[in-house]
Amino acid sequence: MPDIQPTTDKARPKSSLKAWFHPRGRSISTIAFALNRLTAIGLTLYLFLHLVVLSQLLRGPEGWNSFVSIAKSPIFLTLDVILLFGVVYHMFNGIRVALVGMGVANQRQKGLFYGLVGIALILFVVGAVLIYTK
Ligand code: HEM
Repeated sequence: MPDIQPTTDKARPKSSLKAWFHPRGRSISTIAFALNRLTAIGLTLYLFLHLVVLSQLLRGPEGWNSFVSIAKSPIFLTLDVILLFGVVYHMFNGIRVALVGMGVANQRQKGLFYGLVGIALILFVVGAVLIYTK
């Protein structure tokens, strides 16, 4: 009986850590799953960071105002844009995963992925423009 070989790309690095981040030879579903997990980890970390930031309110108006001035800096706005990407991607890909899990559009998974992630990207671009211009 022939050995079952994993479908790996020969160009992918052998070192396990590097191989994790090597995109070649990955299917769109693997990339979608990895991005969903990365954004999920990011959102979970952000939840705790958000609570830490909100605790600045305990220091009164001075503490909050000094935080708000930092929050308007270009670096902070860029972090907001990265967060926005995580939110819209995880949300719309999550809706796709939930729909497919319920047996909806199982035969059109790729179309569903491109459609929903396309909406996510449009919202992301609009939101990113608003973050930098408002
Ligand atoms: C409308 C909002 C959201 C939707 C529709 C959604 C949907 C989903 C779905 C369907 C999964 C399972 C993915 C899979 O099995 O492949 C998932 C995983 C997960 N989500 Fe969300 N989610 C949302 C918001 C959030 C938020 C706000 C957080 C964090 C604060 C979060 C954290 C996670 C985590 C940690 C996982 C596990 C990831 C993994 O095992 O790879 N999600 N989400």
